[in-house]
Amino acid sequence: DLTDTFTSKKVLLAAPRGYCAGVDRAVIAVEKALDHYGAPVYVRKQIVHNKHVVASLEKRGAIFVEEVDEAPEGCIMVFSAHGVSPAVVEAAQARNQQTIDATCPLVTKVHREVQRFDKEGYDILLVGHEGHEEVEGTAGEAPHAVQLIDGEKDIAKAKIKDPSKVIWLSQTTLSVDETMETVIKLREKFPTLQNPPSDDICYATQNRQVAIKKVGAESDLVIVVGSANSSNTVRLVEVALEAGAKAAYRVDDYHEIDDAWFEGVKTVGVSSGASVPEDLVSDVLDYLATKDFGDVRTVTTAEEDVQFSLPKELRKDLKAAG
Ligand code: F3S
Repeated sequence: DLTDTFTSKKVLLAAPRGYCAGVDRAVIAVEKALDHYGAPVYVRKQIVHNKHVVASLEKRGAIFVEEVDEAPEGCIMVFSAHGVSPAVVEAAQARNQQTIDATCPLVTKVHREVQRFDKEGYDILLVGHEGHEEVEGTAGEAPHAVQLIDGEKDIAKAKIKDPSKVIWLSQTTLSVDETMETVIKLREKFPTLQNPPSDDICYATQNRQVAIKKVGAESDLVIVVGSANSSNTVRLVEVALEAGAKAAYRVDDYHEIDDAWFEGVKTVGVSSGASVPEDLVSDVLDYLATKDFGDVRTVTTAEEDVQFSLPKELRKDLKAAG
């Protein structure tokens, strides 16, 4: 009723949110590797971009390194969900490390696209964020063919050999709307620019953005749970603001919520990035309840049932062990 609408405080909880199939698989891969081979298990880079996940795996015996040469010869080495370039695979082989590739299959798909279009002589314009691990791995498949497009300056710099052979591909965790704007600008410069064979921005990124758009449009304040280096999380904050939320903040956990944010707020939107365990969201909801925001309504824009099987090297060893 109207009174309810105008007076009561509520939370709009976005769905889908949180873990995607690629993150789930990568985290389980490290856990199973620890169970099966015993600690320590080395992981190149953060397995997923979430500091709580990394800390809990560290407690169980995982050791995170920046590069494979920081880990001993012959160790078990897991590659993170964001993927690695062929140079990294070779470096691990040179140290006789037993590698487990936890690259998300949807990132691997983009790697294959790079290989294929490079072989066919294309210039590849890779839309993505400079310095992000995924982009480094993807571009590393064909450094001579890939030009990274991270904003206007890169569009201005981009050069191609043959107008009949130019394609754009992208990082999996970008803002859908922002990427389309970039592609429009790229196409002004290169009218024959071809589209990827299928969406590179993954289903999980897209679904979480659709949900936060709906929630953001109806919220005074949006809280997105996730770590600062998580690309898809940071995009959710931006999308919420663009959708009309008056304010939107990212927090790693409920401790980072500032009570000043609640001033004059009736509706709080909540979501979480693809690398965020649900208990961190539950903690946020519990905290919100103590601030009079106990009425939680879920806003569902899609159902997800994607699942990926474990990395094949690990599957093989687990099977051999019975
Ligand atoms: Fe994969 Fe997308 Fe998750 S690329 S790791 S399903 S955010």
